[in-house]
Amino acid sequence: MSSNAFITRQIPEEGITLLKKFCQTVEMNPYDRPLTYYELLKQVKGRDAILTMLSDKIDAHLIHEAKGLKVIANYAVGYDNIDINAATEKGIVVTNTPGVLTDSTADMAWALLFSVARRIIEGDKLTRAGKFTGWAPMFLLGGDIIGRTLGIIGAGRIGTAMAMRSRGWNMKILYTTQGNRNVLLEEKFGAKRVELETLLRESDFISIHTPFSEKTKHLMSAKEFSLMKRTAYLINTARGAVIDEVALVSALRNRQIAGAGLDVYEDEPKLKPGLAELDNVVLAPHLGSATIETRTRMSIMAAESIITVLSKRKPENCVNPVVFTSWV
Ligand code: GLV
Ligand code: GLV
Repeated sequence: MSSNAFITRQIPEEGITLLKKFCQTVEMNPYDRPLTYYELLKQVKGRDAILTMLSDKIDAHLIHEAKGLKVIANYAVGYDNIDINAATEKGIVVTNTPGVLTDSTADMAWALLFSVARRIIEGDKLTRAGKFTGWAPMFLLGGDIIGRTLGIIGAGRIGTAMAMRSRGWNMKILYTTQGNRNVLLEEKFGAKRVELETLLRESDFISIHTPFSEKTKHLMSAKEFSLMKRTAYLINTARGAVIDEVALVSALRNRQIAGAGLDVYEDEPKLKPGLAELDNVVLAPHLGSATIETRTRMSIMAAESIITVLSKRKPENCVNPVVFTSWV
């Protein structure tokens, strides 16, 4: 089989090994940084498959230039970095890595929730700086979690895993979803599907798990922050631009909401002005799926997706299955 694959960034060895067994040529970005758009443009030419990162912009122009490309395997569950319509028009299969990163991402959302509610990062900084001068009754008080209301925006796999973890804290669960009602959450966890406005008004913790699209862009903006409780916290492990980050900076600065825990940013990796100066926000550098086990599973899944497509079979994790209708 003389197929040719390119991997845009060093990933765990397991997936690379699989690809090398199947493809004659497997090349990889040799640098410890993302390729620039022009480097990427050069690299995609003549490839049958590319394994891409969420930080690679795979737009219509690049897809057009990638003559002969059959599959784009995105090393992420989100695929808003890829122009899916352009790929579909060219009959290129796009795959993602759903399922394998669900738990690690939900864990990250909880880690952010605890960190911001209990002011762990503020406390850590202060302690390291030698400013811990002894226990004090009014020192770094945070917010309780037990028995509070958790609002899940986007109750897909990750939102569901986030909600399920709230059991230990006996939380009331509200959710919104673009899809069907979440029977598991409703029947097993007593969750209630509500309108976004109700969720905003009633939740003590709001966690975002919706994919990014034109529909969810700035889903959380000034108006939404004004509906939240002043004691509420916002967590985002989905995509930065679901939040209007400038409006969030104001809401945090004015203490319109109590705090936020973010793993993703609107202009990632850049932050909007003022965000990094605030005490009531915890900032993680997009680590949702960043465990050894999860990243290894993602590498295997992405490699298997490529192998499946190049073997002329349809992978289950294909995000544009309509391309297969022309595969007769
Ligand atoms: C990470 O953000 C992903 O979409 O997998
Ligand atoms: C992604 O895995 C989701 O459906 O939440």
